[in-house]
Amino acid sequence: MNKVNIKTFKKTLSKFTTGVTVVCIKDKNLIYGKTVNSFNSLSLSPPLVLFSLGNYSSSIKKFLNSKYLSINILSKKQKNISNHFSSKNPDSKNIDFENVSNNSTFIKGCIANLECKLIDKIKKGDHIIFICKVINVKQNDKLKPLSYYNSKYN
Ligand SMILES: Cc1cc2nc3c(=O)[nH]c(=O)nc-3n(C[C@H](O)[C@H](O)[C@H](O)COP(=O)(O)O)c2cc1C
Repeated sequence: MNKVNIKTFKKTLSKFTTGVTVVCIKDKNLIYGKTVNSFNSLSLSPPLVLFSLGNYSSSIKKFLNSKYLSINILSKKQKNISNHFSSKNPDSKNIDFENVSNNSTFIKGCIANLECKLIDKIKKGDHIIFICKVINVKQNDKLKPLSYYNSKYN
């Protein structure tokens, strides 16, 4: 057994396999996205999900000020999109989006997409938990998911 410190904490959490999502917001017709694997389901009725973002993120203010967002669950073929949206200040020029409403846009070719309304934000440690009500959903049963384990894609 090891005493927890940042290194041992990160290494331990890397043993938990997750999917990979990109959370997107629209602000003045520009789209901002961030790669996120802290996504999880929260409640069935009402349909709620959550994810967390570091309060040090370059675009945290944009996410805190948004009312609507989309959560795009990436397929195995979308590793490049995950890498793109985990870089500093990524643009959205070469990404294929489909507009689903005035408020949200989905990334095309995902295994699933959720359109959400942001209903609560909770500060904990160095992260902010975003709690979202799901409004519309879309799935593709033919695609395989991108997964993340041991700090690597699978
Ligand atoms: C697979 C993967 C999952 C990630 N999950 C999260 C997450 O859940 N929350 C978060 O704040 N950052 C997460 N990141 C890091 C962000 O995508 C991004 O790299 C980080 O916020 C730094 O960039 P920024 O300062 O421009 O926001 C993840 C990165 C990768 C590659």
